[in-house]
This record gives sequence, C-alpha cells and structure tokens, in this order.
Amino acid sequence: MDLRVQQGSVTDIKTPLLVVNLFEGVTQPGGATGAVDAALDGQISRLIADGEITGEAASVHVIHNSGHASLKADRVAVVGLGKQAEFEPETVRVAAALAARKARDLKLDAFATIVHGAGVGGLDLDDAGRATIESSVLSLYRYERFKEATKSKHQVSSMTVVEQDAERARRLHEQVELARLTCDAVNHVRDLSVGPGNYITPTFLADEARAVAQKYGLEVMVWGKDELREHGMNAILAVNSGSNQPPAFVVLRYKSPAATKTLAVVGKGITFDSGGISIKPADHMEFMRHDMTGAATVIGFTELAASAKLPVNVIGVFAATENLPSGSAYKPGDVFKAYNGKTMEIVNTDAEGRVILSDSLAYAAEQKPDAIVDFATLTGACQVALGDHATGLMSNNQALADMLLAAGEKSGDRCWQLPLWKVYGEQIKTAMADVRNTGGRRAGAITAGLFLKEFVGDVPWAHLDIAGTAYADSDQTYVAPYHPSPGATGVGVRLLWHFCQAWGAR
Ligand code: BES
Ligand code: MN
Ligand code: ZN
Repeated sequence: MDLRVQQGSVTDIKTPLLVVNLFEGVTQPGGATGAVDAALDGQISRLIADGEITGEAASVHVIHNSGHASLKADRVAVVGLGKQAEFEPETVRVAAALAARKARDLKLDAFATIVHGAGVGGLDLDDAGRATIESSVLSLYRYERFKEATKSKHQVSSMTVVEQDAERARRLHEQVELARLTCDAVNHVRDLSVGPGNYITPTFLADEARAVAQKYGLEVMVWGKDELREHGMNAILAVNSGSNQPPAFVVLRYKSPAATKTLAVVGKGITFDSGGISIKPADHMEFMRHDMTGAATVIGFTELAASAKLPVNVIGVFAATENLPSGSAYKPGDVFKAYNGKTMEIVNTDAEGRVILSDSLAYAAEQKPDAIVDFATLTGACQVALGDHATGLMSNNQALADMLLAAGEKSGDRCWQLPLWKVYGEQIKTAMADVRNTGGRRAGAITAGLFLKEFVGDVPWAHLDIAGTAYADSDQTYVAPYHPSPGATGVGVRLLWHFCQAWGAR
C-alpha cells in the first residue's frame, strides 16, 4: 500500500474518504473534526444532536459531502473514540482499523486520515501516528495465496495522513516509514504462520531466512541432518526422526554499528505438529500448521531489525521440523542428550516444542547474548490459562520480564507473567534422565517453561508462549479489527521492536 503524509488543512485534502474522530459525549467537536464540521455547515454537530453520531468506541459513521465546496473530501467518516476517561492506545488502533476497513467495504482506492489520539487523547504524536498507520495497514491484510475463483477483487491502494503543522508532519513522515517496515515484517510473519504445511516446510523456512539474509546483507547459517549429528543436536534430530522432510537449524545475524547489546531471538519451528506417536485427536489438527509461528517471528523480527536499522544486534535462531509418527519416529520412553549435555526422557512425543527448543536455546546461550527471548506455540495449557488476549511470559530475570511486560502494553501485544517457582520443577523430575519432557496436566505452561530453563544457563532469558495469541478466530472470541479473522496475528514483532527501543538504550 502507498503511504504518505500531507501537510495542510483537513478541509483542503482531495480524497474519496476523510477520517476524523469524536469522543463520546462531545456535542461541539473541536480540532480537525470541528474544522470539517464547520466546512459542512454544522452537519456533524447536527447528527450528534440527533443521536446518530455518538462517538461510541468502535462506531463509524459516514457522511457524504453533497456540494460543500469548502470541504475537498467526497466523504467523511467519523470514528468513535469512546469515553475520554476510558481512552487508551488500543482505542486508536481499533478506530484506525475500523476506518480502513470501512474504506475497503466502500470499495474505495484511497482514503485520508488524521492521527487519532494525539490531540485531546493526550498521546505522544509519534506513538499515536505509528499506531494509526500500522493499525490501518494491518487491518487490510488478507491471505489469498491459494484463492482462485474467490479471490477478492478490491484493495485499498493508498492512505494519506493529514497534518496541519509542518514540524509534526515531518515527524509523522518518519513514523510512516517505520510503520511501513513494521507492517511488512508483521505481514510476513502472518503469511508464514498461516501457510499450509505442505508449502511451509523446514526447507522453505530455511530458504526464507536465506532470502532475508541476502536482501539485507546478513550472516546466515543453515545446518541439516549431518551438521546436527556432528554438533550433538540430538533433540532436534529426535523430533525429526518420524518425518521425511529434512530438518533445518537456522541462525541469522544482524549486526548494528550503533549497538551496545545483543539480543538472541529463538523460535519454535514445527511446520506441522501431529503429536507424533502420542498422536493428537483429528479435530482441529489442521491448526497445527501454525506450530512454526515462533520461527516465523524470528525471521520477521530479524528482517525488521535490519530494514529499520535497529541499534541492537540480533541473533535469530530456530530449528524447523515436522512432528510425525512413523516406524522411525521417536517414542515415549526414549532418552536423548541435548546440545548442552543435559539428558531428557520423552514421556509424550506431543511435547515436541520444548524438545527442539532445548538444542536451540543451548546454542543461543552459548553465543553469550545479553538476553534471550523465545517465541513458541508451546502449550494448550497457556491458551486455556490466558485465552487469546495475552501471551504467557516466563523468565529467569525479573528486569527483563518487566521490560517485556511494558513493551506489551505499549505495542498492544500484551503479555502476562506466570511464575517459574522451583516447586513446580518437581513435576518434571524423572529417575531416567536429568529432566522429562512433560509435567502432567497441572500448570502445563509453567512446567514447559521450567523445562526450557534447563537449557539457557545463566543468560537472562524470557519465554513467550504464543499458543493463544498466534492465531485469531472470531468464532471463538473477540478479535481486534486490525487482525485477520480467522488468521495469523503476527504477534511478537511489534512487541520486540518496542522492547528493543527501551532495552537497547539502557
Ligand atoms: N503445538 C502444541 C501446543 C498448542 C496447542 C499450540 C494448541 C496451539 C494451540 C504443543 O506441541 C503440544 O502439543 N503441547 C501439548 C503438551 C503436552 C503433551 C504436555 C499440549 O499442550 O497439550
Ligand atoms: Mn505437540
Ligand atoms: Zn507443537
């Protein structure tokens, strides 16, 4: 999509649709909305008086400009920002998304908008601008790679942000560039996450990483079966042993000349999770094509770090394999030694994510980064605990956890912390090995987190369980209008970007 900033008055912009906003309870709109109201001879305030425009959160009201020469726009959309006392950054994201989707529903090619929330809302202009732009673009995402006859014919192709003040317009210009790169990365993650397992194979993911490396001049390393054997990554090989698709262990490195810190980002890359010998029930098994979303997040975030020249070094790490049953598949009762020398007893082959992450995290820790953050669609238990609206956060370092929680609030990719208390560790003890790969039904997200903790040594580390947040489906719950539904959310990219802004500067 073509994104631009136009400096000038809202009444002067020629556009099929101009988006302005209104708080609930306001009878005489001010600012941009007031200027548009005046140009329309008070039509907006009359509609407010008549109770047709309410300013209620998530409401959109479209007015045609029938012949008012003082307003250049063909139509005006008034989006509601709700009660001022309840205003939050999420209000901006929802309002922007609904307005963009209204433009699409009206089959318009272009629309223009003011930045929501930077006036009466009191948000910082950069944050509000970024949220308005990103949310608009993200809301228009559709995955139609395999549609033929039913492909949609219409796309909104251009969006303009209008700002009167020259200095503010200049700042918004920077935010537009950042938002463009961010949305490219988020949508890339979405494409990979939702893509079918027969296309998005381990080899495909490795090739994606290579393509990103090529595009931005990054270092990339891809290990196959031979190298995995050579380096003792027996856990990845164990999960791969039931599959005919070769595994891939991928390391992408972005180096910034301005960096003082290095972040390792690790992802779970199960391109399809059948459960293996501990096979899953058939119902909804197709959703296990998303089980490589952690790896997709690694690719997307590293890409964003490089394209936006983030002042933090990034080491992106993921292992990719299918988890399938076969005569050569790994089995309950098997024991394997991971890359760091620790041994694990397999109790359930469906707890495969933590198994491949063990080697991946041990490798990441060996690189001595300043912190490790991993992303994994790891446990149904996390989805049960937190639903679809929070990523489960577990960490061995509270300062790191706190910064991720704060970045979650800022970005909208919200996280909620679960404890990694030592007592829970009793559940993953075994007579057979150093640790076992399941801890029973109770506290399933936490025992998975404690298993991972065995492989990071003393590097500050946070584990993000995205089982509930990677995929959205409005049949089940509320889905924010900037996410596809059903579809992949691309959770984590914006979280990490905001995290790095704060963390890299310390
Ligand atoms: N990929 C699944 C977790 C998952 C479930 C992600 C639902 C998204 C939605 C994971 O590999 C898994 O199967 N976990 C098991 C662990 C259990 C066997 C200890 C689970 O959560 O049931
Ligand atoms: Mn599984
Ligand atoms: Zn899995």
